[in-house]
Amino acid sequence: MKGLILSGGHGTRLRPLTYSQQKQLIPVANKPILFYAIEDVLEAGVREIGIIVGPNKEQVMETVKSANWESKIEFIYQDEPKGLAHAILVAEEFLDEDFVMYLGDNILREGIVEHAKEFEKNNYDASIMLTDVENPEQFGVAELNSNGTIKRLVEKPREPPSNLALVGIYFFKPIILEACKNIKPSWRNELEITDTIQWLIDNGYEVGWTKVNGWWKDTGKTEDILEANRLILDDIQTKNEGTAENSRIIGRVIIKKGVEIKDSIIKGPAVIGKDCMIRNSYIGPYMSIGNECVIEDTEIEDSIVMEKSEIMGGGRIVESLIGKEVKIRRKVELPNGRKLIVGDNSEIVG
Ligand code: DAU
Repeated sequence: MKGLILSGGHGTRLRPLTYSQQKQLIPVANKPILFYAIEDVLEAGVREIGIIVGPNKEQVMETVKSANWESKIEFIYQDEPKGLAHAILVAEEFLDEDFVMYLGDNILREGIVEHAKEFEKNNYDASIMLTDVENPEQFGVAELNSNGTIKRLVEKPREPPSNLALVGIYFFKPIILEACKNIKPSWRNELEITDTIQWLIDNGYEVGWTKVNGWWKDTGKTEDILEANRLILDDIQTKNEGTAENSRIIGRVIIKKGVEIKDSIIKGPAVIGKDCMIRNSYIGPYMSIGNECVIEDTEIEDSIVMEKSEIMGGGRIVESLIGKEVKIRRKVELPNGRKLIVGDNSEIVG
């Protein structure tokens, strides 16, 4: 089986961060979201991966190439995000055997091994993954027949026929290419994956499904990214390679090499990337701090701070997404409890 991972699109719901960063590269627990997808696909035994890249293709290619992967990875350019089925068509030449398509902004706790096995064992033409959600109108939704087979799939329905959302991971035989060529763009002018799978059903092909039991996150919005960060940090194990002076480290914390902590409290779960400097600060639960950050005279929790950012006298910061190379410096006291979404290379001076 091959793997097709989607890392194109504009990520408009994550601005300002996505003005400069491709959304699938935003770090969750200090790892780009896209890497979780690649790891899941590799774990399922896939050794040939195609990654769909869009307008920010250089960034994605560079980041993926910076890591060592035990598989062949090629990049396939999609000029405009014209839909998930359009991305399949763009990759037509690569897709000459069964494949798993994984949306690069999805994170799934349990991985895809069991789901891949079900697809292969049952020799389905396509297999989708479903999970119960509270807000089905924001996803593709499945309606089942009384015998449990799929009756109908609808994309972001105003009146959802069920609470069963389509997770952004799909298993296909190459017949899906035929389906992609036979559908028309939707009201949002995209070639929808739900319509292609519906085409398979309507034309007598076998479409199976499996249920996702652990957590799953589509990281389309800032709240989702922070929630994914919490969920991943909930599973980390302590590993301290840094140095601490006159400080307390409580709970499960990963501290990388070259980190210097002074006169501070670090309360896990949290991860601190290499060569960070933490002084006279409180780093609270659910913090991810990228490499080479400086945090001084600040209380911060439940947030992501990306590499090379400096926060000095930041007061109390919660539930924030702070881009790369941001500088926050404050000299006067402001009221407590700020919530910030700060794009890369910004400067906030008080
Ligand atoms: O996450 C699950 C949902 O993903 C499903 O429930 C929906 O049925 C499915 O349509 C999809 O909905 P989204 O609205 O979340 O899709 P989005 O446009 O955000 O695209 C998903 C990922 O694929 C994202 O990482 C960007 C990438 N992409 C998207 C499009 C439309 C591409 O690489 N190319 C594209 O043309």
